Parts: sequence; C-alpha cells; structure tokens
Amino acid sequence: MPLYLRRVQFFNQGVHYGHDVRFSTSARSGQERLSGRVILVTGAAGGLGTSIVSRLAAEGARVVASDIDANTCASVIAELADRGGAHTSLPLDVRSDEDWQAAIEHIQNRYGVLHGCVNNAAIGGLASVADERRDRWDRIIAIGQTGVWLGMKYAGGLLERCGGGSIVNICSILGTVGGFGDSIAYHAAKGAVRAMTKNAALHWATQGIRVNSLHPGFIGTEQVLDLYAGSPRHEAMLSHTPMGRLADPAEIAAVVAFLLSDDSSYMTGSEIYADGGWTARYSRHQSN
Ligand SMILES: NC(=O)c1ccc[n+]([C@@H]2O[C@H](COP(=O)([O-])OP(=O)(O)OC[C@H]3O[C@@H](n4cnc5c(N)ncnc54)[C@H](O)[C@@H]3O)[C@@H](O)[C@H]2O)c1
Repeated sequence: MPLYLRRVQFFNQGVHYGHDVRFSTSARSGQERLSGRVILVTGAAGGLGTSIVSRLAAEGARVVASDIDANTCASVIAELADRGGAHTSLPLDVRSDEDWQAAIEHIQNRYGVLHGCVNNAAIGGLASVADERRDRWDRIIAIGQTGVWLGMKYAGGLLERCGGGSIVNICSILGTVGGFGDSIAYHAAKGAVRAMTKNAALHWATQGIRVNSLHPGFIGTEQVLDLYAGSPRHEAMLSHTPMGRLADPAEIAAVVAFLLSDDSSYMTGSEIYADGGWTARYSRHQSN
C-alpha cells in the first residue's frame, strides 16, 4: 500500500503553519492480520467509523458496518473495493436491545461466526456541568455509555459462543482528563467506557475475549473541521496537543486494527492512547 503525504495544520506560539506528514492510510502490503475475520463496527458512517471500516477491509476482515444512519452506512460499504460481497451494512441504533438482537441474528445467519466488535458510535456535546440539560445528558449517556454496554453484552455473548475474540471500545482522552472544563455528559460517558472496559475485560479474561479501550486525542474528521476550523476551540485543540496537529482518522483506525489482531493477544483491560502526546503532559492517572 502506498504511503500518503497529507498536509496537516500545526500551531506554535500563536502561528498556524502547514507541514506534510507521511503515513499509510491502509494496511502495508501483505499485512492481512484480520484475514477472514468477521468484525462488527458501530457508528460506521461517521468520520472515524468510515476510516475504521476501510482499514479493517484492507486487512482482510469481513466487515459488518452498522449505524443509525443506514443509508450513509450502506454507501460506505458500497465504496469499498469488491471483495466478493464479504462486507455487509445494517441499521443499528446502539441504544436498542431489539436492534442489537437483529444485528447478532444477521451475523449468525450470514457469517455463522463473529471475531470482533468495535463500539465506536457516540455523540458529543459542549455543555458544562452547570449548563447541561437533562434531555441532552440522557441522550449522550444512552448512546455513548449504555450503547457500549449493550455492544459488549450482545457481541460478547456471540463471541463467547464462537470461542473468543476482541472488543475495542472507542473512548477518548476526555474519558481520563478534564479537557476544557465543559462537555460534562461526554466526559461522563467516556469515563464510564474506560471503567466498563476494564470490568468486562476481567469478566472474560479466561474465556479468550479481550476488551480494550482506545483513547484518541482530537481527530481531524470532516465534522470536527466543519464545526471548529478557525475557532478558538480549534486553536486550543492544536495548542494543547504536543505534536501540534490533529490526528488523521487513519492513524486511529490503524490502532483499532492492531487491537483486533493477534498482535495484541496479551492485551486486555488496557487503555491505549493515540493522542499526539496530550496525556503525556498530565500523567498522574498513569502512575496512581
Ligand atoms: N472526532 C474526534 O475528535 C474524536 C476524538 C476522540 C474520540 N472520538 C470518538 O470516536 C468515535 C467516532 O467519532 P466520530 O468523530 O467519527 O463522530 P461522528 O459524529 O463523525 O460519527 C458518529 C457516528 O455515530 C452514529 N450514531 C449516532 N447515534 C447513533 C446511535 N444511537 N446508534 C448508532 N450509531 C449512531 C452517527 O450516525 C455517526 O455516523 C466516537 O466514539 C467519539 O467519541 C472522536
């Protein structure tokens, strides 16, 4: 696979400047660590989800892409190079037990096996502890926290019956540190994802099911750039990130592939940071 040069934005002492970063947006040639594995991805129509689907497919996985936005999700799968119809898409609202049961039934009927699940769907919100509203709080928690529990419950049940597998919960640096002192509901959901990951990892530790959380820093998805580009928040994201740039979604997707693969076979209950150095500045959580 080719290496891509991508122009990324840096921020230093109040000045923005560009720089070309060289990285692979896909698996390296011959690197098909996930060959034939059936992997379910939630929130697959989003900025990071799309990149995860594409990376897993490039590593040989059979991807079941799911999202509440079924149409966009179907087009994500349609855009993948034809791999003999190995991939499928389906509507899945992660808050719904019925949708999870239908997804598991689809996987059993279509593939007869499941090897991994990426709990990626979540929504954000900027309101602070003082300003958050009950309806918005409930929605953010229902999708980003309860949805991840349901994902582990239903996908984990099938993984148990299939002899094991890997669950990757997409968390955030904001599940660990206080960020900017706002987004209280998002912090609550992600903090819970971090703790639930370790709890579930212990539950399944001897049964071949590994559960790890991945904590990205700020990712330069289209949605994030549309929302924040040029704003004080964007500058704060850049200036607080030691590497001075946002992540490319492909850089996060590469870590997801690693956590799903046997290359991470001795890792469970781990929290993996792909954050451009953000938490290196505030490392108390790592030594306590
Ligand atoms: N973008 C960032 O900077 C960043 C940083 C750290 C962590 N993350 C995490 O990465 C993950 C993906 O974020 P993203 O940036 O791609 O967001 P996004 O908004 O682009 O994508 C989220 C996807 O989730 C789907 N979704 C929303 N509600 C759903 C529901 N009830 N059921 C199923 N799907 C639903 C949306 O339709 C969308 O396709 C999230 O867990 C997010 O918290 C993102």
